[in-house]
Amino acid sequence: MATPKGLFSPDLISPKVASAFPESYQIRPLEQEDYHKGFFECIQVLTSTGDVSEEQFNERYDWMKTKGEGIHYFLVIEHQNQIVGTGTIVVERKFIHNLGNIAHIEEIAIRKEHQGKKLGLKMIQALSSLAKNVGCYKSILGCSEENEPFYVKCGFEKGGRTMKQYY
Ligand code: ACO
Repeated sequence: MATPKGLFSPDLISPKVASAFPESYQIRPLEQEDYHKGFFECIQVLTSTGDVSEEQFNERYDWMKTKGEGIHYFLVIEHQNQIVGTGTIVVERKFIHNLGNIAHIEEIAIRKEHQGKKLGLKMIQALSSLAKNVGCYKSILGCSEENEPFYVKCGFEKGGRTMKQYY
């Protein structure tokens, strides 16, 4: 099998979900060139990223593609040569639930000027299809109270509370 251009094979995204994006918007795995397509500007609608050099980005990308293979699945939405949406799943392999796999959904960000066009919803649908295709039985995520209605519209339900500790 040929090595995929991006982080992983695009075949893992449901073709039905991928084709539901508006014509000029493409959902696909993260690629190394995305550093120059505004990947960081996009993800900064979510949180600060620090000043990451291209070399540092490539190092992280290579790690995800090799050592993190089968664990890290990063998706982007490209529109007119620019990254306008991001989202990822991190696959956790468990001992419980018959050695079940679960997907942690992270880094959901849609550029401000593209919000409200159902791109966020479609990003979640793409990540869910990916999670199912790599053998996960559920997806979980943590979010602010403000974003809860968005995730309810995406088909999620509240389950427990998120706790955190910084180091
Ligand atoms: N509150 C209430 N409803 C919302 C909200 C909200 N904050 N955001 C979206 N919705 C609703 C929309 O109105 C729409 O409803 P409808 O189907 O009845 O019309 C539905 O949810 C789908 O909305 P989309 O258009 O797909 O949402 P959008 O593309 O704007 O993406 C997102 C939503 C991802 C929250 C975007 O606003 C964003 O990037 N925000 C900043 C970053 C952020 O907070 N990301 C989430 C972090 S949590 C995580 O990463 C796990």
